[in-house]
Amino acid sequence: MTLQQETAEWVVQQRRYLHAHPELSHQETETKEYVKQQLEIMGLETYSMTGKDIIGVLRGDRAGKTIAIRSDMDALPILEQTGLPFASKNENVMHACGHDGHMAILLGVARLLADRSSDIAGTLLFVFQHAEEELPGGATELVEAGLLDGIDAIFGYHLWQPIPAGVIGVREGPTMAGADRFSFTIQGKGGHGSMPQDTIDPTLVMSAVILQIQSIISRSLSPSEEAVLSIGELRSGSNYNIIPDSAYASGTVRYFHKEASEHIKKRLHAIIDGVCQAYGATFELDYQHGDPPLDNDPQLTAFMERQAKQLVEEKQVTRIDGIMGSEDFAYYSTEIPASYIFLGIGHEDRPYGHHHPKFDIDESVLATGVELFTESLLTYMEENR
Ligand code: NI
Repeated sequence: MTLQQETAEWVVQQRRYLHAHPELSHQETETKEYVKQQLEIMGLETYSMTGKDIIGVLRGDRAGKTIAIRSDMDALPILEQTGLPFASKNENVMHACGHDGHMAILLGVARLLADRSSDIAGTLLFVFQHAEEELPGGATELVEAGLLDGIDAIFGYHLWQPIPAGVIGVREGPTMAGADRFSFTIQGKGGHGSMPQDTIDPTLVMSAVILQIQSIISRSLSPSEEAVLSIGELRSGSNYNIIPDSAYASGTVRYFHKEASEHIKKRLHAIIDGVCQAYGATFELDYQHGDPPLDNDPQLTAFMERQAKQLVEEKQVTRIDGIMGSEDFAYYSTEIPASYIFLGIGHEDRPYGHHHPKFDIDESVLATGVELFTESLLTYMEENR
């Protein structure tokens, strides 16, 4: 099947309209209204679980499973610098991650399937989710609201700049990392820079802590366990000759297995505690679990891999490494069989990564996404009814 010119152009138009009208996480009011309108023009019923999302329902003529496919809808607080004719009309808000393209793909799939109910066995839910970029994100709210009740499987995808345009990336098992965040304050005793003997220097203690915690990944996790610990923020002191009273740092932990996250948390606490005791300082640690790892169901993902290989040349379908970024689709994947794949958009003319003010996508990939998911959904429902 090759997508008809008219459909391909329609999908690009959707993407451009949505690109010009980005909205931030939890504020996707007009986006949601626009999507709702489009779905209703196609004849789909719509409903919302949280008031912020919008879901289109397509019932097949024959009985079968209930399958969901999800797109995110939110943009980022970035001043767009692409110079595109359809650049953002909302200052300091930009679709710099590709969620505009995700929506266009899903609208394209819905439009193609809308009048094919006789080919559909089961019920299809087109889930347009709000707030992927924020914590807590839209997925958590949708899961809590009961979105997944009665859904047998869920599909998702991301336009992906690190993979060349035209290539489709798949991976089974843990695919995108879980993301935790932590912050801690070390309480010392301030004083004059010339009289350190009367102080407990929190800057020195902090320095020792930062060096020591880098041993957690390298020395207490298995070398085959992928994880990251990074300090992103550090504050201490206000003047050259004052030893401050306290020092503050915050950072992120990325991991693929829950046990690794628990272990890192424990070691982090133990090292800060030990170093502080050695220097006579005290501390407070705040450790928060964020998105869990995105866990791709092996069967569902093998199915998507086969489908992708039927659509594009076999060598254009690639098994990717785990991605250290996180994605709130992960919440669905911990509840029901889920598969999340990556549609490459990388090109030397567009070297800018996701979340960059000059980020742009290869619009020809939108048609690939529409074709892939239109066929995959029909086939999956037929094979699994
Ligand atoms: Ni994204």
